[in-house]
Amino acid sequence: MTNYLISSSILSANFAQLGEDTKQVIAAGADTVHFDVMDNHYVPNLTMGPMILKALRDYGITVPIDVHLMVKPVDALIKSFADAGASYITFHPEATQHVDRSLQLIKQLGCKSGLALNPTTQLNYLDYVMDKIDIVLIMSVNPGFGGQSFLDSTFKKLNQARRRINNSGKNIRLGVDGGVTVDNIADIATAGADMFVSGSAIFGHSNYWSVLHAMRQALTVISGYG
Ligand code: DX5
Ligand code: ZN
Repeated sequence: MTNYLISSSILSANFAQLGEDTKQVIAAGADTVHFDVMDNHYVPNLTMGPMILKALRDYGITVPIDVHLMVKPVDALIKSFADAGASYITFHPEATQHVDRSLQLIKQLGCKSGLALNPTTQLNYLDYVMDKIDIVLIMSVNPGFGGQSFLDSTFKKLNQARRRINNSGKNIRLGVDGGVTVDNIADIATAGADMFVSGSAIFGHSNYWSVLHAMRQALTVISGYG
């Protein structure tokens, strides 16, 4: 049975009580915390820096924190986020001068590494780095904002990425980020994803548990273990 992970994107949490809201979503069953870093340069929005991540760790958040860097350049921030307590660090290959070097840096700092691929970014970026990544994060929206609709072109891309991962024989997660809901999560899993980033669908509901439970139910049916 596939070990699916649901990563709650705190971009849609209540920032006025971020620590508490993050604790609540974990208590409601989220596996990991997805931490969206936007710089108003690589993407047209501005969000959170390493001090906020450290504050969450100090507040007692112990689950893996999956940092999604939507910034350019990336290397200096890789170091800052690793020091602040990141578990995974994912960046966009177009945003760094030397992709392999940035991946090596993440590994040297003891974190798991990933590449995030925009809707029109080619999978070829993965060609020579399959031995240096732990996650391929397929963007199912254009990065920059929560609450956007899932792009259907993602299904085909997930199929292709799943084939690449299986052919590599490596233990690499296939994540999807943007527009994931209770209604489409099963189709996304069928296309090959095993890690689901979801923000507005969870935080936009008054009962986080019920959304996460419904997502897991949908995934259980897919796995044929319902
Ligand atoms: C988009 C971010 C996503 C976003 C997902 O740029 O990378 O992680 O928070 O949010 P929803 O689930 O609302 O699409
Ligand atoms: Zn993200």
